[in-house]
Order: sequence, then C-alpha cells, then structure tokens
Amino acid sequence: MQTGENTQGLRKIIDFTRLLSLLILSIHFYLYCYNVFQAAGFTEVLFDRLLMHVAQMGIFQSVISAKLVVLLFLLVSLIGANGKKDEKMKITGIFWIAGTGIVLFVCSHWILRIISSNSLNMQAGIYISITVLGYILVLTGGTHLSRLIRIKLSNDVFNTQNESFPQEERLLENEYSINLPALYNLKGKQRKSWINIINPFRALLVLGTPGAGKSYFVIRHVITQHIRKGFSMFIYDFKYDDLSRIAYNTLHLHTQQYEVMPEFYVINFDRLSHTHRCNPLDPDTMSDITDATEASRTIMMGLNREWIKKQGDFFVESPINFVTAIIWFLRKHQDGKYCTLPHVIELMQLEYIKLFPVLQTEPEIEVLINPFISAWKNQATDQLEGQVASAKISMARLSSPQLYFVLSGNDFSLDLNNPAKPKIICMGNNPQKQQVYGAVLSLYISRMIKLVNQKGKLKSSILFDEFPTIYFNGMDSLIATARSNKVAATLAIQDYSQLKKDYGREQAEVILNIAGNVISGQVTGDTAKQLSERFGKIIQERNSISVNSSDTSVSRSSQLDSAVPPSTISSLSSGEFVGMVADNPEQKIKLKAFHSEIINDHPVLAKEEKQYKEMPEIRKVTSASIQENYLMIKQDILNLVEEVLIEPEPADQKKPATIEELIPEAMDPVVKDRLLKELELMKIYNGIGLQDMASGLNMNLALVKKDLQKLKEAGLAVFSGAKKSGKYTRR
Ligand SMILES: Nc1ncnc2c1ncn2[C@@H]1O[C@H](COP(=O)(O)OP(=O)(O)OP(=O)(O)O)[C@@H](O)[C@H]1O
Ligand SMILES: [Mg+2]
Repeated sequence: MQTGENTQGLRKIIDFTRLLSLLILSIHFYLYCYNVFQAAGFTEVLFDRLLMHVAQMGIFQSVISAKLVVLLFLLVSLIGANGKKDEKMKITGIFWIAGTGIVLFVCSHWILRIISSNSLNMQAGIYISITVLGYILVLTGGTHLSRLIRIKLSNDVFNTQNESFPQEERLLENEYSINLPALYNLKGKQRKSWINIINPFRALLVLGTPGAGKSYFVIRHVITQHIRKGFSMFIYDFKYDDLSRIAYNTLHLHTQQYEVMPEFYVINFDRLSHTHRCNPLDPDTMSDITDATEASRTIMMGLNREWIKKQGDFFVESPINFVTAIIWFLRKHQDGKYCTLPHVIELMQLEYIKLFPVLQTEPEIEVLINPFISAWKNQATDQLEGQVASAKISMARLSSPQLYFVLSGNDFSLDLNNPAKPKIICMGNNPQKQQVYGAVLSLYISRMIKLVNQKGKLKSSILFDEFPTIYFNGMDSLIATARSNKVAATLAIQDYSQLKKDYGREQAEVILNIAGNVISGQVTGDTAKQLSERFGKIIQERNSISVNSSDTSVSRSSQLDSAVPPSTISSLSSGEFVGMVADNPEQKIKLKAFHSEIINDHPVLAKEEKQYKEMPEIRKVTSASIQENYLMIKQDILNLVEEVLIEPEPADQKKPATIEELIPEAMDPVVKDRLLKELELMKIYNGIGLQDMASGLNMNLALVKKDLQKLKEAGLAVFSGAKKSGKYTRR
C-alpha cells in the first residue's frame, strides 16, 4: 500500500541513488582528466591521497566500467520516477532521446579519439560536455518514460475475446442428426467445435441476408446428411435447380441407406421436358370438404399475399368460399374425373348463367353458393362481382398451357414418406415468376404436409429455401406434431421483417419462436435484437483507467453482458453463424449456443460438384402437345356443362320441329339466340317467373314478355300460377 511515509522513504532512496551516480561520474572525470585539472591547479594533495584508495576500486579501472556503473545507478533512480501522466507522450520519441543519450554517454571517449585535438584542455572539455549531455538525455528520456501511460487499455476493439464463450466440442450423432464442423474463438484462441442438430424434428430455422451462406453452409448439409441417413425428403428450391441438383446427385451416391429405394420427382414450370406432372387436387387424397376449403384458402392467399393479414373479412372469405365450392363440385362430379386445378380455373370462368345452374346440381355446396346465387337472382351485380371477380381474376393469372400441363398430370402422389413408396420431391420456383408459381407450389406443399404429417410413416425431411415466398398456413401445428411423426422441417428465411411482411406479425412471431434450432448468419435490425436476447448474457471483464495530475488508476470489473450483441450479429462474415440448438431428454446438450465459423471443405465440395450429373429428362414434350392439353381441359369443362345440364334425349322420338318453323321471327339469329336462352333458363330452374328471367338474362322486361308470349303461342312454353307470380315452364 502506498502511504505517505513509504513514499517519502522511496523518494529518499531515489535521490540517494541518483546522487551516487553523479558522485561516481565526478570522480571519473577527475581521474580521467587529472592532468588537465593538475595543470589548472584544481588538485589538492590531501584530496588526491584520499582518492588514491577509491581509484584502485574495480569500477575505475576502465572508462567503460565506470560509465556503466554510473548508468546503472541512474537507471535505478529512474525506476522510481513518478512523472505526471501525459496521454500524448509517444514511446518512439522517448526512445530516441534515451537512445541518443546512452550512445553519447557510453561512447564519449571513442568520440574523443575521432575529434583529434592537440589541446588537452580542449579534449577534457569536449569529453566532459559530451558525457554530461549523454547523462542529461538519459535522465530526460527516463523521466518522460515514467510519464507515459503504461497500462494500455485492451486493444480488442470489438470486444471479441470478451464475447467468446465455451461451445460444444463433442460430435454428437444419432440417426436423425445434422452435424456441422466449426471453428470458434475462446479468449483469443481458435478451437474446433461441432454444431450438433440432434433433434431436427424440433424444426431448424436458418436466417441470414442474401449471401450470408444459408444454402452453401447449412442447407446443402441438411440435404446431404439426411439423404445419407435414409430420410424421405421434400425440397422447395427457390432458385431451382441449385438444391435439387445436390439432392439428385446425393441420392444416386447413397442408395444403400434405404430399405426401399426412394423415387426422385421434380416439379418445375419452366423446363417442361424436365418436370414430372402432379395433380395437387388428387381426388383420392381429398376426403372431405375441409380439404377443398384448405386448398382454396392456400391458393387464394398465395395469389393475394395481402389477404393473409385480412383473414375473416367478407371480401376475403367470399372468394375463398366460391373457389371451395368449385373444387368440391369437381371432386364430387363423376368421382373427381375433372378434379384438377386447371379444371377449377376453367370452370370458374364460365358465365354465371351456366355456372350457377351447374353448381346447383351438387347439394353439398349449396350452403357455399347460396349467397352468390341470391345476389345473382337479385341482380346485385356489383356485389356479385365484388365477391366472385376477385377470385376469377386472381385465378386467371394461373391460366397458362405450361402450368396446366404440370398440374393436370398424375406421375406421382404427394405421400412423400409412404414406407412402401418413399420419395424425394423437389419443387422449383423461379424468382422472376415467384408469386404465381409460389401460389401453386403453396398448394402442393399444403396438400403434401397433410399427407406427410401422419403416424406410422417413414422419417422425412422437408426443406424450404426462402420460406416467405410460399404461403403455408399450418407451420406451427406441423412443428408441434412433427416430433411424433418424424418430420424434420427446415426453414430458410432472410430475416424477420421479410417473414412479417409476408405472413403478418403474429404468424411470423410464432414461426420464429417455435423453432428449437436456430442458425443465423448476418442479419440486422429487429432480427438481430431478438436473436441476441435468445442467446442471453455471459460474464465479461471490463477495464477502466483514470488519470489525474498525480496518479493513474486502473480498475477491473466483471459484468453480465450479451454473449452475442446485435451489432456482432449484424457484422457476421459469410460462413460465420450464431445460433442455438435443441436437445433430447436422453441426449442433453449443455452448451447450446454457438458463435462459430462453419468449416466447408471447399476443394472437396467443388470436386464433388464437378462430378454432379445434370437432372434427367423426363419426357419429350412439344409445344403442340402442351397446347393440346390446354385446349382439352377447356373442352372438358364444356363437356361437363353439357353432361350436367342437358339430359340425353330419347333416340326414338320423332324429331321435333325447329324453332324457326314454329316461330318465324327466330329466323333472325339474335332473336333465336334469345329465345333459346329463355327456354334453357326455364329448363334449368324448372319454371321461372318473368321478373327472374329478365334479370337472369339482364334484358328489358317488355322484350322478355313478348318473347315468352311467342313461345307460349308456339306451344314451347306454358304459363302456370297467378298472373304476377306465375312461372313459365318448358314443354
Ligand atoms: N459452391 C460453392 N463453392 C464455393 N463457394 C460458394 C459456393 N456456393 C456459395 N459459395 C459462397 O458462399 C456465399 C454464400 O452463398 P449462399 O448461396 O449460401 O448464400 P445464401 O445465404 O443462401 O444467400 P441467398 O439468400 O441469396 O440464397 C457466396 O457468397 C459464395 O461466395
Ligand atoms: Mg440461398
């Protein structure tokens, strides 16, 4: 402890040492320049005699030894020097001063030899001056050194050493795990570690801005490791065919893992020779009307992402009901003969006058279509258009020969993890057409998940790159039940705000919070904040230094601070990840958090990629065959209308007279067309009032009245009932 008393004592010792060095230096000068002093009469016999004994001491035997001893005492005296601290003091300047001083001091007698002078006085004068100058410079340098702030604050500007914490270094494997080798920093030392995702069924969320390395450092390993472990797999490949190629080639290299060799299927809408065809509305998998509702909701939400946040609104729910009705009608009609999305789209585009009567033939959808029919009957055209047109317009965007081609075939079913027929299915989007394709793919995905998430199936891995580009409603419930059904979901997302934009705040939060395993590359803003909170705090050391006129003090403390603060997460390099893994009751992991660099063996991966084979061609297609398929679907719908609305006429009946024969005015095609429509309506409704007929045809009441009169006279229609409310029926 520094008390006033021992400071005083120290001061005295220092002064004494310095004095001693000066004394020795003076004696040295006296002895070395004795002749000069003698000639000048500065010597004294008594003093000389006294010095005789001193001069015989070892230190004065040579010039160097005397000087070194002087220097030694001087340096000792400087150790205790305690100058006022100066932050601007530079170490290099001090070394220059002290260094020059030492050189001058030690070498002064050699310098003397270089400067040859005949006068002894001159020589002595130069020698003493140079030596004293050297002495003063050393003294100055030494005192300056004591003013330098010796305790430099840690030069770890980014606090990386403090933010390091122990991480899992063991490799923990099991039959489902994904294990990524990594390197991490522990108090400045690089150590090897493992990111062990031993329970992928608790969902894996991969976050990171574009280029953070989600695909190259994480997702590709999920694909390869899970295929090696015999998983059935689904991949939503946003940038088709980056991930599909990896899956395809990995599967062909690791076939021995599977008891039943899985089939590889791929869906994309751009290269039709390289895609399989699959009907997402496969009637065999649609067992009740809720399946139709869900399919309708998924496709409509996928097409109109802004509706996601408005679920429950009348103008959102109405179009969904409308599409549900159409899907379920097609599912029921002839046991789903035309139950495909293209047929749904085409049927929707029919004019109301045909569409509603067709739909009315199916009692199960009566409740769904009643509001539309009453709006139509009441001529509430605006309202009807508001409800139906938004569905028609959105769905019309899907009307293309390419999409129809893929959606109308039946190369495979979506039961990915069927133990008897396991599959690896890749579905490719195209970033340029992501919304339209995304909606269709969302439909595939929601249908598939329903089939996958069931008991007693194979283990399966479903993987979504750029998850927000598709709409899938039941992610939370999937994750909640995935563990028991062995479904490992991996979601790659750029960041929370992207998810929030596409799914709304509530769903986004659920998805982000429900995932047990999180791996995040560079992300910023809110996402970084949320993750940082998730990783918690660790004990970190803090240094502080205070300088005042007489003293400098350093204090060290430890405090709890974020293990990985948001700023660190926003400045992660590509390939560097932070995250948290989930564990199992029987395989506990204590060190769940990690902040490390995933090691990818680039040359090996590059070599592997070089050997990759191209995705196979599935069938030869021509644009003519695609067009033909497109037209056939349109024709199917026309046929369906005929089948439903017009019952076959008995063949043996006498051919009735034509309408032109019965009503001469019908020679005019416009009149004929009108009369036929009126007759059709009478048939469809099994009798219809004048008012309804006019509104159904959107025609002038008087004109319709005249027409009906003619039809009645010609014996084609009969009128029954009261004058005002009576109906016209076809004869
Ligand atoms: N096959 C490869 N070989 C070597 N380096 C690669 C390879 N693929 C990607 N990388 C490097 O890894 C970085 C991250 O790429 P990656 O495709 O994984 O990013 P990402 O996070 O998936 O981005 P995005 O959101 O755009 O898909 C790239 O900048 C690239 O330099
Ligand atoms: Mg990617």
